[in-house]
Amino acid sequence: MISCANVRKSFTLGDRVVNALRGVDLRIEDPGFYAIMGRSGSGKSTLLHMLSAMDRPDSGEVIVAEHSVHAMSEREATRFRRQEIGVVFQAFNLIPTMSALENVQLPGLLSGSLSPELVARSHELLGLLGLSDRSEHRPEALSGGEQQRVAIARALLYSPKVVFADEPTGNLDTSASELVWGMLRRVAREEQVTVVMVTHEPEAASYCERIFVMNDGVIAGVIENPDSRTEQGGLDAGAIATRTQHLLSAS
Ligand SMILES: Nc1ncnc2c1ncn2[C@@H]1O[C@H](COP(=O)(O)OP(=O)(O)OP(=O)(O)O)[C@@H](O)[C@H]1O
Ligand SMILES: [Mg+2]
Repeated sequence: MISCANVRKSFTLGDRVVNALRGVDLRIEDPGFYAIMGRSGSGKSTLLHMLSAMDRPDSGEVIVAEHSVHAMSEREATRFRRQEIGVVFQAFNLIPTMSALENVQLPGLLSGSLSPELVARSHELLGLLGLSDRSEHRPEALSGGEQQRVAIARALLYSPKVVFADEPTGNLDTSASELVWGMLRRVAREEQVTVVMVTHEPEAASYCERIFVMNDGVIAGVIENPDSRTEQGGLDAGAIATRTQHLLSAS
């Protein structure tokens, strides 16, 4: 489903070179809810940009849903982002003049055709994310958590096999965050989607069945958490923080 092999990326700022990714290897075979966790500056967002074709690696191979992302032209990348994957950001990026329903339908409108299937799908998704009674509201009349759930529904319009989320709850309070993490886990399970979430919070990662811990541009280790697939069970935030510390001190 997703694989990275020896992915490298550096940035040059003046005469300083930052090696943001120093040989990332990562494999995800099955649908589910996965986390990429690590300190600020460890390369999480850079890795997500490689996976979602927002940027290209200097070297290495990135395969997502059978597409060779590392080799895409800008034109192929645009189509890939619009139709093959879903992307959710910390900022919800909704259109303020459109209703929740229209925001979910936006990728279809941008592609020039909103088929009856996509209209039905947009209603189904608002239901899945608990927003059926909010469909006519504009973003300003929605809470932050509701806005992010609209953004998640929008990311799912074309039924992508893979969804990427970079700190999706960075602007939300604890209870709204918990709802969003629970929804992402449910989406992964019920829609058979591979959801990859970047986070620095052990609490967020506790919802995920596998946690890739990044340190200084590489994957320092992996924490398996299969029991998190159920509503209760799996490692709690404290256990994840402890294991992360062990991995980081060993790497
Ligand atoms: N466009 C860029 N130009 C220069 N340096 C960059 C660029 N993007 C990222 N970097 C550098 O690469 C390193 C990794 O950055 P990245 O944004 O991937 O970290 P992160 O793990 O997402 O951090 P955070 O948790 O703060 O979001 C950092 O040292 C950062 O300053
Ligand atoms: Mg980041």
